[in-house]
Amino acid sequence: MIMILIGPPGAGKGTQAKRMEDVFGVVQLSTGALLRELIASKSELGLKAKTLVEAGNLMPDDVMVALVSDRIDQPDCASGFILDGFPRTIVQAEALDVLLREKGLSLDHVIEIKIDVDLLVERLTGRFECGECGEGYHDSYKQPKLEGVCDRCGSNDFIRRADDEEDRVRTRLGFYHQETRPILPYYRARGILKSIDGSKDLDDVTRQMKEALSPGQ
Ligand code: AP5
Repeated sequence: MIMILIGPPGAGKGTQAKRMEDVFGVVQLSTGALLRELIASKSELGLKAKTLVEAGNLMPDDVMVALVSDRIDQPDCASGFILDGFPRTIVQAEALDVLLREKGLSLDHVIEIKIDVDLLVERLTGRFECGECGEGYHDSYKQPKLEGVCDRCGSNDFIRRADDEEDRVRTRLGFYHQETRPILPYYRARGILKSIDGSKDLDDVTRQMKEALSPGQ
C-alpha cells in the first residue's frame, strides 16, 4: 500500500503514520525526519536545510524529490510506505506521479487530516521529545511519569524543535495554506482523497483513518 498523509503542521500526520506502520506493515517516510537527519550530518546540503527548516520555510522541490526517490528505493519500502510531509507543493505532487510511474508503483490513498489552527499552535509549542530514543511528550498532554526522565529509555536529555517556536509555527501554517492545500483538488479529481477530523483524540483519529483505508470506503 502506498499512501499520502496531508495536513497542516501538528495535525497528527507523524503520530498516525507510526500507528499505521503496525496496522498495515508499511513504513513511514517522513520528509521532515529525513531533513533533520540531513541537518545532523552537517553536510553542505544539511547546513542549507538547517537555515530553511528551522525558520519554518520549505526546502526546494528538486532536493525533496531526489530525497524521496532515493528513500523509496530502500528495501524496507518494498512492501509499501506512508508519505508524511510529501508532497507539499503542486510541483512535488506532479513529480511524485512521474517517479512512481518510473518505478512501476501506484498511489492507493490520500488522507487529509483537517484541524483548527488554534489547536495546532498549542500542540506544537508544547511538544518535546527524548533526545536519545525520540519518545514524544507534551507540556499539557503527556509529561514523563518521573519528571525529567524519559519513560522509555531513562535519558535526561529532552529536545524541542527550533521550528516549534510560535512565530515559526505560523510561518509553516502560512506555507501549508499557500502551497500544500492547493494539492487537494489534484487528488480529489482522481477520487483517491478522503478527509478525517484530526481534532478528536488520538484513538478516534486512528479509527477514522482505518475506516477511510478499509476496502469499499
Ligand atoms: P515536518 O517534520 O513534516 O513537519 P510538519 O509537517 O510541520 O509536521 P509536524 O511533524 O510538526 O506535525 P505532524 O502533523 O506530524 O503532527 P504530530 O503527529 O507530530 O517538516 C518540518 C519541516 O521540514 C517543514 O516545515 C519544512 O521546512 C521541511 N519539509 C518537510 N517536508 C518538506 C517538503 N516535502 N518540501 C519542502 N520542505 C519540507 O503531532 C504534533 C503534536 O500533537 C504531538 O505532540 C502529538 O503528540 C500531538 N497530537 C497529535 N495528534 C493528537 C491528537 N489527536 N490529540 C492530542 N494530541 C495530538
